[in-house]
Amino acid sequence: MDIEVSTGDLFDQAADTVVVYAPTGRRQPAGATAVADRRVGGAIKRAQDKGLFTGTAGHVLEYPAPGRGRLKRIVVVETGDKIAEATAQQVRAMAGNLSRTLRGMDAGHVVLAAPNSVATSLSPEDAARAVAEGFVLGLYRFDKHHTRAADKPKGAVTGLTILASSARQRAATERGAHLGKVMAEATNLARDLGNEAANRMTPTDVAEEAQRVAAENGLECQIIERAEAERLGMGSYLSVSNGSIEPPKFIVLRYHGASRRGNYVALVGKGITFDTGGISIKPAGGMEAMKWDMCGAASVIGAIQAIAQLKPNLNVMAIAPCTENMPSGSATKPGDVVYAMDGQSIEVINTDAEGRLVLADGLAYAKSEGATTLIDVATLTGAMSVALGNVRVGIFSNNDRLWNQLDAASGPTGEKYWRMPIDDEYNRQIKSDIADIKNTGGRPAGSITAAKFLHAFAGDTAWAHIDIAGVMNVTSDRGEWTKGASGIPVRTLVQYVLNRGG
Ligand code: BES
Ligand code: MN
Ligand code: ZN
Repeated sequence: MDIEVSTGDLFDQAADTVVVYAPTGRRQPAGATAVADRRVGGAIKRAQDKGLFTGTAGHVLEYPAPGRGRLKRIVVVETGDKIAEATAQQVRAMAGNLSRTLRGMDAGHVVLAAPNSVATSLSPEDAARAVAEGFVLGLYRFDKHHTRAADKPKGAVTGLTILASSARQRAATERGAHLGKVMAEATNLARDLGNEAANRMTPTDVAEEAQRVAAENGLECQIIERAEAERLGMGSYLSVSNGSIEPPKFIVLRYHGASRRGNYVALVGKGITFDTGGISIKPAGGMEAMKWDMCGAASVIGAIQAIAQLKPNLNVMAIAPCTENMPSGSATKPGDVVYAMDGQSIEVINTDAEGRLVLADGLAYAKSEGATTLIDVATLTGAMSVALGNVRVGIFSNNDRLWNQLDAASGPTGEKYWRMPIDDEYNRQIKSDIADIKNTGGRPAGSITAAKFLHAFAGDTAWAHIDIAGVMNVTSDRGEWTKGASGIPVRTLVQYVLNRGG
């Protein structure tokens, strides 16, 4: 979607729809609402007098615009009575809901005032970012496979003009609008990759998407094929692909923003394009959700797209070990022993604990390439949603500073994280009788023992593990969230990188 920043009169812009904020509780229309009220012959005041304003934030009333110009309608949106203190997240969520309401009206090109005009505790930049992000995220739909028009949204929002509160605030408003758009588009890319059906988003398809993103954004892209992965000793990653006829693809994207090469922040995303469980096969009910088991890979590809567009002064690598996890005559069996790239041996107790197997080689590869910060993202354990549900995202880290930086980075995004423990006592559960480590630790603390497995491959390098199993998808449209893949943690990853090398 096209997002512009402008100044001047709300009613002088090239738009089909003007949105006017009506802060709840005002007896007389004021400011832009008063101007709009005059344009519609006092209809807003009448609506207020007749009690048509409900006092609910987000409630809208629609008026036909006067005159013969392009402008078709004036939409008055109630902001609630606490709008002055609204946070960026509240503005983002309101913008998400508003964007879908406007689409339902077929609003076309929309113009609205920068939200800091009413949410006065926000800076012009943060306000513009929140509204741009909310619009682009809120309008997201995955409907490419609906062949009947009736199944698609009828209307459209084709563009958004954000009117800066003053000429002096124009530059900051532009910066915020651009940042919000880039962040949201990267999130929507991750959502698209996640939502696509597994027969159309195989490891080969993910690799093609990565190559496209690299070509469009000036990134280096390397696809490590099976033979090369064998030469590199990635026996843990490859063991997961044994049961599948789809060739595995180990994807590496590189962004160079620092003056010297090396010293990478590595973003490592689990890329299981479908997880049947393998020989330790999953029950049939709900298995279709396992097309989302590559949402970690999707999020690191989305994040590095935004990073390439925002150009921080630091080097970043996105690593996505992609494969299917299938049962077959050639599949890995429970009890098999495999070797990761760094030489550690692994006893595969349960072939359904495959995410940690592909990440072991992802982390080992990142270290061998000179990564000094490791952040992995994975739909790793069902136990994660038992622990934190779909509200908070679990983060595990061996480094307080890195955890604090990620926590700080999440602030402006509205994504919510919670630090989980990684005490060494948990290692007892993943000690193998015949190898260095085993890939499951039993039911207790299932998310933590999975993290401890990864910790063995991260070693002393600063590392954080983000288990997104509880939040990989959302089940209904609400605020900036739309049904399907969430795109978490794209915006936090990008913000973290910007904060370090902005
Ligand atoms: N991809 C799953 C985890 C998952 C489950 C993500 C549900 C999202 C929703 C992962 O590969 C898996 O199967 N984990 C097992 C681990 C177990 C075998 C130790 C699990 O959580 O049951
Ligand atoms: Mn699994
Ligand atoms: Zn999995």
